[in-house]
Amino acid sequence: MRALYPALGREVDGKALIYLDSACTALKPARVAERLADFYANWGGCGGKRSTHLLSQQVEDWFQEARRSAARFLNADGDNEIVFTSGTTEAANMVCGGFPYELGRRKVVISDLEHNAVALPFIERARHGEIELEICPTENGVLDLDRLAAMLDDKVALLALTHASNVMGGVVPVAEAAKLARRKGIKVFVDDAQYLGTHREDVSTLGADFVAFSAHKLGGPFGVGVLWGHETELNRLGTWKLGGGTVKSVSWDLKSAPEPVYLDAPGRFEAGVQNFGGAIGLHEALKLRESLPAAALRAHVGGLVRRLAEGLAKIGEVRVLGRPADLEKGSLVTFASAHPDFSPVDFNLFLNHELPGRFIAIRVGEHCAHLQHRRLGVDATARASLGAYNTAAEVDLFLDAARAYAKEAC
Ligand SMILES: Cc1ncc(COP(=O)(O)O)c(C=O)c1O
Repeated sequence: MRALYPALGREVDGKALIYLDSACTALKPARVAERLADFYANWGGCGGKRSTHLLSQQVEDWFQEARRSAARFLNADGDNEIVFTSGTTEAANMVCGGFPYELGRRKVVISDLEHNAVALPFIERARHGEIELEICPTENGVLDLDRLAAMLDDKVALLALTHASNVMGGVVPVAEAAKLARRKGIKVFVDDAQYLGTHREDVSTLGADFVAFSAHKLGGPFGVGVLWGHETELNRLGTWKLGGGTVKSVSWDLKSAPEPVYLDAPGRFEAGVQNFGGAIGLHEALKLRESLPAAALRAHVGGLVRRLAEGLAKIGEVRVLGRPADLEKGSLVTFASAHPDFSPVDFNLFLNHELPGRFIAIRVGEHCAHLQHRRLGVDATARASLGAYNTAAEVDLFLDAARAYAKEAC
């Protein structure tokens, strides 16, 4: 695995890199970078059924091949359920903004684990009085399904949940939550941005109406992602972005107002020239991902998470967040300071500048999860996250560094 990722073989600031920040973005395999380079260097032409010369036809074929591979990856019913987006953030904004809220049924429930990509669009709509928003509190990263069920009344139109918190780790029981929601006729949006890094999703059994993910978190390019939705649900969603590629026809007799007739999904959402290179790169990343045995990938990453969480739990100056039994179902461990002199921000500098021969990349801050940090009552936490290419030796070196920092600082 490691040989596939050139970044792992390079030095940062003259030191060997240990990359423990895959929750922010996964490293990119060489084959994705090569595919993008070939696409941009050797192929012109825009797909999207605009120009019809051979170059464009080839690009359009690759674009649709990428759509098919995303549909296969999610076990979707068909290609029309796959909308290309710029990422999870855009998908969440599309669902939040385009959802057909009804009079008397315009409440949205989210959890306090949500990333700002999901939380902020709904918070803003609620601040403007367009929807009502309720935030289901979690306890140490655990979503209490009874508590959630009590919030799902007949005023709720939409439930939006992350499948894996980018702070508390573990996995969220979204299938169970979706079952509760469906009983009440509530639609469900699932944020799979974190989850798909090391898990597989099956939308045919998940029970959700919409699922979003970003290519860059599974080794694909930046600026591209997918919104999956049941075809009927996608076609009920309003569009906020219109332009080239979204209409079947526009009739105009020069006297009355022009009348556009929009395409069905996915075309009606893919306005303007698309990120063809991004989609083609995503296809390459998915091919690699599908070649990995899913259970082995989870066993490897889950084992590393357990080793990391157990090691950190023995360091008295930090507090590991999340329940140990849940953590190993995910791919990351976040911890807060438990000593006045253990500063996550300073620890990050230590990892970058003070380790002889090594540069360890983790993430420190609020991780775009401000709701959860207010709940935790802390300004900054430190997060180490893992991918298929990480090793037990790297986890041990990180733990050594954490112990060394705690000893030096506290
Ligand atoms: C749980 C979660 N949701 C959504 C996002 C947003 O993804 P993107 O920035 O790729 O749109 C992230 C990214 O960190 C995330 O971790």
